[in-house]
Amino acid sequence: MASPSGRTRPIPADDLEDLFQHAPCGYISAEPNGRIIRANLTFCAWMGASCDAMVGRRFQDLLNIAGKIYYETHFAPLLRMQGYFNEVALDLARPDGTTLPVLVNAVERRSPDGALEFIRITLFNASDRRRYERQLLEARRAAEQASAELQALNATLASRVEEAVRERMAAEEALRQSQKMEAIGQLTGGVAHDFNNLLTVIMGGLDTIVRQMEKLPSEAAVSKINRSADMALRGARRAATLTQRLLAFSRRQPLAPKRIDPGRLVSGLADLLQRTLGETISLETISGAGLWQTLADPAELENALVNMAVNARDAMPKGGKLTIETTNASLDEAYVAGITEPVAAGQYVLIAVSDSGTGMDPDTLNRVFEPFFTTKEVGKGTGLGLSQVYGFVRQSGGHIRIYSELGEGTTVKIYLPRAVGVEQVADSAEVTAPNALGGGDEVVLVVEDHDDLRSYSTGVLRELGYRVLEAPNGRRALEIIQEEHDVALLFTDVVLPDGMDGRRLADEACRRRPGLKVLYTTGYTRNAIVHNGRLDPGVQLISKPFTYAELAQTVRRVLDQDPD
Ligand SMILES: Nc1ncnc2c1ncn2[C@@H]1O[C@H](COP(=O)(O)OP(=O)(O)OP(=O)(O)O)[C@@H](O)[C@H]1O
Ligand SMILES: [Mg+2]
Repeated sequence: MASPSGRTRPIPADDLEDLFQHAPCGYISAEPNGRIIRANLTFCAWMGASCDAMVGRRFQDLLNIAGKIYYETHFAPLLRMQGYFNEVALDLARPDGTTLPVLVNAVERRSPDGALEFIRITLFNASDRRRYERQLLEARRAAEQASAELQALNATLASRVEEAVRERMAAEEALRQSQKMEAIGQLTGGVAHDFNNLLTVIMGGLDTIVRQMEKLPSEAAVSKINRSADMALRGARRAATLTQRLLAFSRRQPLAPKRIDPGRLVSGLADLLQRTLGETISLETISGAGLWQTLADPAELENALVNMAVNARDAMPKGGKLTIETTNASLDEAYVAGITEPVAAGQYVLIAVSDSGTGMDPDTLNRVFEPFFTTKEVGKGTGLGLSQVYGFVRQSGGHIRIYSELGEGTTVKIYLPRAVGVEQVADSAEVTAPNALGGGDEVVLVVEDHDDLRSYSTGVLRELGYRVLEAPNGRRALEIIQEEHDVALLFTDVVLPDGMDGRRLADEACRRRPGLKVLYTTGYTRNAIVHNGRLDPGVQLISKPFTYAELAQTVRRVLDQDPD
């Protein structure tokens, strides 16, 4: 280090002096104890002091406090040990109180006999370098912080994605479930429609036989025929009930909603329910004060309550308690957002039917609304009870929910929309007083594409004394209306072939013949008559399958109604 480099030419003294004084680094020559003998102008300018003021001071005394300590404990011993040190970062404390970061190199100069004569010190201004270092450090810290934040984000991202996937899967499962219910609904609706037509024929035929038999002479034969005919009728009626339940599930039964006071309806039904439940089950009905009214088909609501009571009875073979509670309820946005089927938020009447029975496991609970799902022995349950309740409630714009715990019991909650305003309610479903089967002599036009059904209806009406005309479709029916001026009643199926349904036929017929009375019949109606599960005001409807008596009474009633 201390070896002199070879020089070819001597450097002029003033050049050397200039190099020493003005080199872009500080030069210091010091005694072995650090006392400054000479310092160059560059260094003195950095310190903001005169060179005279520097001479005589110890180099280590020019350092800040930490530098002083390090110098004494580390760098001075290092210098003595190895004769030099390089690039030691120290801070000079200026007289004006500021500090100057420097990089210090030091080397000992010895005499030929090895005695330590001087210490030569070189200082480089390290302000810029320190600033870079500080910036670098800050950048690294920022990078580290960003990376930590990113990692945290990643961690929550994973859990957020998980959550989203879970929600998505739940939604898909719910969708599958509702699509399944929809598909089964379509199927049962279709089956039920055809089945109804057949039943009308069967029941009508048997009905007629029974009536004809009465005219036969042999008493024994008559009673035998009567018995079997009765049996067949009973069977057909059971089948009709089955179809009715299928239709109810598929939400295609013609409903005649009325304003109902649900508390009154429930208490009016108490006797019947108690008889259904038997003596080992007690029944309590509770209804809240200021109960709202609801708009629903009362007969179907009663039917639903009986269905639920029967289920409760079956779940309480050793007896128990059935509670029917009626209260006002509100379904809020958050609640309806959480359920599968579209249900409007708002005010409802809640009928809660609770039993203290066996309850259901989750698998059973999941399937209760499926048609034909039953856990009961063959012959004991058809598995259509709750399907029917479900269909009825949905068709009425309501919502149904079941809560059940194994061993604890079950609560079925039915929410029916609150009736608002003064709605005019169709009265076509009014139970007709079982008066005499009055006939008449008016002209009735029967429009029905199903041949057997048409001949059954025309047969009954003729028997009742009416003059009957018939048509298999709307076009033919209009021709007849055109030709025959005294048609008093148009009795038409809602679903007709060849593009003109019963509704359009009736509209056209009434346009040509104002005052014409119209009676519809249908197995189910999706569109023409039943809008949103409700009969249009003024529409008269007789549901298939109908009996002789029902047809006789309904036709008479419609004919006798004042034109409005
Ligand atoms: N209150 C209840 N307690 C326990 N289980 C019930 C209750 N209600 C319904 N279930 C279960 O749900 C199933 C389906 O009920 P649903 O009323 O649809 O048909 P079902 O009663 O079996 O037959 P159906 O009503 O046609 O005679 C029942 O078989 C039973 O397992
Ligand atoms: Mg049931």
